[in-house]
Amino acid sequence: MKILVTGGTGFIGSHTCVELINAGHEVVILDNLYNSKIDVLDKIKAITGIKPKFYQVDIKDYNELEKVFGENNFEAVIHFAGYKAVGESVSIPLDYYDNNVGGSINLYRLMKKYSVDNLVFSSSATVYGDNFEVPFKEEYGYGNTTNPYGTTKLVNEMIINDNCKANEKASAVILRYFNPIGAHESGLLGEIPNGIPNNLLPYVAQVETGIREYLRVFGDDYDTPDGTGVRDYIHVVDLAKAHVLAIEYAQKHKGAQTINVGTGNGYSVLDVLHAYEKACGRKLEYKIMERRPGDIATSYADVSKAERLLGFKAKYDIDKMCEDSYRFYQNNK
Ligand code: NAD
Ligand code: UFG
Repeated sequence: MKILVTGGTGFIGSHTCVELINAGHEVVILDNLYNSKIDVLDKIKAITGIKPKFYQVDIKDYNELEKVFGENNFEAVIHFAGYKAVGESVSIPLDYYDNNVGGSINLYRLMKKYSVDNLVFSSSATVYGDNFEVPFKEEYGYGNTTNPYGTTKLVNEMIINDNCKANEKASAVILRYFNPIGAHESGLLGEIPNGIPNNLLPYVAQVETGIREYLRVFGDDYDTPDGTGVRDYIHVVDLAKAHVLAIEYAQKHKGAQTINVGTGNGYSVLDVLHAYEKACGRKLEYKIMERRPGDIATSYADVSKAERLLGFKAKYDIDKMCEDSYRFYQNNK
């Protein structure tokens, strides 16, 4: 398939492009480079032997986006482009709605205009909010989102569902990611956050490289085995492979499907810290702090739908996720 990958130079997008190319698909990347670097294209080439065609375009710019559709005969779109910082979305909500919802509507309009019927969208477990019991099941629907970022994901899910109901040719797979971490085994692709990392793994990595003094563990009084928050961490390469299966599923079916992508296992903050310590071979400092506002105790996926519909099962465990992250951060200090 010839596939447009928006946000394809980003963390999850770049790994997905590698897996799409490995599976024999033709990839065209579109990204405004707001949160990624152009040298990712050379890294994709170093891994796969193929440098994807690239457009530096902002999805908010309808006319520029239309040129890309006009010049290519896409069969499918995988849509990663968006802002993703939860805390920032609380301070600048209009920018988040403009980019993540407004930009996406441009894309969905052009898909319709150019008869590109197959879509995979990056949603998030954040749409479950704190309303439901684990493991989170797709049929729960939506919980209360606790920040504008989460709401942009929920709104996109609604738009995609309505659009598929209105267009009998349209097909979409909404993937609800749990917590992607890790890096490509080559050490070439990974996640380099801007500024102080919000997410656990990049923060732990910065403690290891000496940029941060210690890990702030946000709460040890949750109702979990060791009192720290539990999440379903998934290796980014496993997540990337789920996209290949999802876009192939979309091509063969009509209508919208929502599917969790996780491992089905929960690990605590201290489990992740200890796995990273194992990977780097030494102890890392941490301090217990107050709970972070908006956090929930436990989040992990019911993965049966992904297995049933896509034949997807995550392969890598927490040790492999930390080993690959460690290798990447050593290469990119
Ligand atoms: P990322 O920031 O590494 O990648 C997103 C890419 O989109 C970046 O390269 C950025 O430059 C680009 N982009 C942003 N706005 C754009 C615009 N208007 N036009 C064109 N390009 C634009 O993030 P990621 O971790 O790879 O996440 C990819 C997607 O998955 C996002 O939609 C994110 O919300 C979603 N998601 C991520 C996580 C996670 O923990 N990383 C969890 C759930 C969902
Ligand atoms: N944590 C710490 N210290 C840190 C960072 C995080 O103790 O410095 C803890 C959090 O309290 C939480 C766990 O580590 O218990 C994971 O936190 P992350 O910030 O890495 O991930 P979240 O589960 O909060 O959120 C992530 C993404 C969201 C996405 C969600 C989907 O940031 O965009 O996963 O489940 F929506």
